[in-house]
Amino acid sequence: MDSLFADEAFDRRPRIVAPGAVWLPAFLSDRAQSWIIARCAEWQSGPVPPHATTIAGHPMSVRTIGLGWHWRPGRYDRRAVDVNGAAVLAFPDWMTRLGRQVLQSATEVVDGADDLPAGTAASWGFDPTGYHPDVALVNHYDAQSKMGMHQDKDEFDPAPVVSLSLGDTCLFRFGNTEHRNRPYEDLRLASGDAFVFGGPARFAFHGVRSIQSGTAPDAGRLSHLGGGRINITMRTTGRE
Ligand code: SIN
Ligand code: MN
Repeated sequence: MDSLFADEAFDRRPRIVAPGAVWLPAFLSDRAQSWIIARCAEWQSGPVPPHATTIAGHPMSVRTIGLGWHWRPGRYDRRAVDVNGAAVLAFPDWMTRLGRQVLQSATEVVDGADDLPAGTAASWGFDPTGYHPDVALVNHYDAQSKMGMHQDKDEFDPAPVVSLSLGDTCLFRFGNTEHRNRPYEDLRLASGDAFVFGGPARFAFHGVRSIQSGTAPDAGRLSHLGGGRINITMRTTGRE
């Protein structure tokens, strides 16, 4: 009964978290969540297996599948040179369309904010029709996984990052562009939530503090992985 009246139950309206950053809770329908999870299950079988990327000599606690490009710190390759050498899967067209829909909704949230001048969404790089992401990093978090505060800065193109969450809820920290410390905001990203960061927030530090095990809704359950959370981030590498 306590959880029924918890603050977060009332705090899931779309909103601007920081200039350039928009949270769209429950963006994906149940059907869309299950359908995307079925695609994630297909991607599991290759050509590149999910792998823990090494950062500064240590394996990350998430396992990643790249679509469009294979990511390593500071580089993007077409082949998973440090895994099995295979070419990664293509970036799917449906994901481009989905990314554009997220940007369209984020634009509507920004346009509806009465304290912001007209043209703000465009100045943040929210251009739904002109959005051409070419890489998606699909990260699986188990109950113990975390992601330290970092910037997404291996892309040459500053187009917004679109993030989608599936499975268990996480405690996400979204900070500032200067350093890993305050000011930041902690929010719970649940299955089906979208989050966009572009413009003045594009290089904000962010990270995942914890996974709230067993919180996935039925439609968002990652049965092929025995639970946990998947986050998909679409980016535009600006590479050829
Ligand atoms: C990331 O920073 O690339 C992932 C963020 C998240 O898992 O929500
Ligand atoms: Mn990131």
